Amino acid sequence: MTIPNPHSIPATLIPGDGIGPEITDATLQVLDALGAPFVWEWQVAGAAGVAACCDPLPQACLDSIRKTKLALKGPLETPVSGGYRSSNVRLREEFKLYANLRPARTIIPGGRFDNIDLVLVRENNEGLYMGYEHFIPIDGDPHAVGMSTGINTRQGCRRICRFAFDYAVRKGRKKVTAVHKANIMKALTGIFLETAREIYAAEYQDKFAFEEIIVDACAMKLVMNPWQFDMLVTTNLFGDILSDEIAGLVGGLGMAPGANIGEDAAIFEAVHGSAPDIAGKGIANPIALLLAAAMMLDHVGFVELGDRLRQAIDATLNIDKVRTGDLGGTANTREFTAALVKRIQAGG
Ligand code: NAI
Repeated sequence: MTIPNPHSIPATLIPGDGIGPEITDATLQVLDALGAPFVWEWQVAGAAGVAACCDPLPQACLDSIRKTKLALKGPLETPVSGGYRSSNVRLREEFKLYANLRPARTIIPGGRFDNIDLVLVRENNEGLYMGYEHFIPIDGDPHAVGMSTGINTRQGCRRICRFAFDYAVRKGRKKVTAVHKANIMKALTGIFLETAREIYAAEYQDKFAFEEIIVDACAMKLVMNPWQFDMLVTTNLFGDILSDEIAGLVGGLGMAPGANIGEDAAIFEAVHGSAPDIAGKGIANPIALLLAAAMMLDHVGFVELGDRLRQAIDATLNIDKVRTGDLGGTANTREFTAALVKRIQAGG
């Protein structure tokens, strides 16, 4: 039974590229069954934006997000090496989406790692993602030298540390670990570590434990004993890499949602990309985008609906045992979605 909802919240919907439209379709069916409050403005970006209006980030898409301040986004394709700059990175810059929140929680027990409940907060606007890059030609080789400049600012470091620390307090987390490489990149990631220490000591000392770790050791410890961590806060590139790693601890990219949160808007998405290798086959796992939709419901104050969605996903996977191929099951996207909708309609 669909629960009628008197509320309506305008939000931008970008189905995205590759498997994007397939998992977006699944997510819309599920949100419909839940009675979610969103009224969608459909927009295109990425390769779909190029195909529709020769622009990977069309003005209409930007205008829509500027108006709604809220978006659910499928993965957007970015050409490797040449071609246009990532529309994802441009969206994060345009709307100052400085915090990337990526939780990873075990939903299917009995895997290689059980009882994982980690949250990674990644700085989303600075670091090595700024795109200050160029080649230096030497002796007729146009790409003889490749250079990239990373930038981290005190203000950016303060902002991301406060976001992570406030989240830890709000959610009752026990420990936050600052991940850095300040032994080598003493300025670029040194400023982040220095700021994390200062803010923790001045404002959060009695609220949760704080520790620091070098990124390479963190990557190793995450696969040796992930339970020693609770929350991680880190700079842009390290956060990108480690969030895929923690997704791997809970069943892979098909299970990992992300929220990009800033002063001007919030955009929710799956951590994974457009998965061109399985696009159009109807076998993609829609759970990451569904969990992102649950985070979006939390964000607009519909926490109970978000919880119902998470519980229904849990029950579909573990009681009904309906799973897509990436999780070792045999269901395709349509069959998984139908089972999840049935769960929701049955009340969980
Ligand atoms: P990818 O995440 O698309 O795929 C990596 C592997 O995971 C593939 O084998 C794929 O089949 C599998 N996979 C991913 N999502 C899945 C799902 N929901 N269900 C089942 N299997 C799934 O990474 P890749 O191949 O490196 O990137 C492809 C494109 O996506 C690139 O153009 C990249 O720039 C873009 N991308 C976009 C992101 C975004 O929009 N936020 C994030 C990451 C990549």
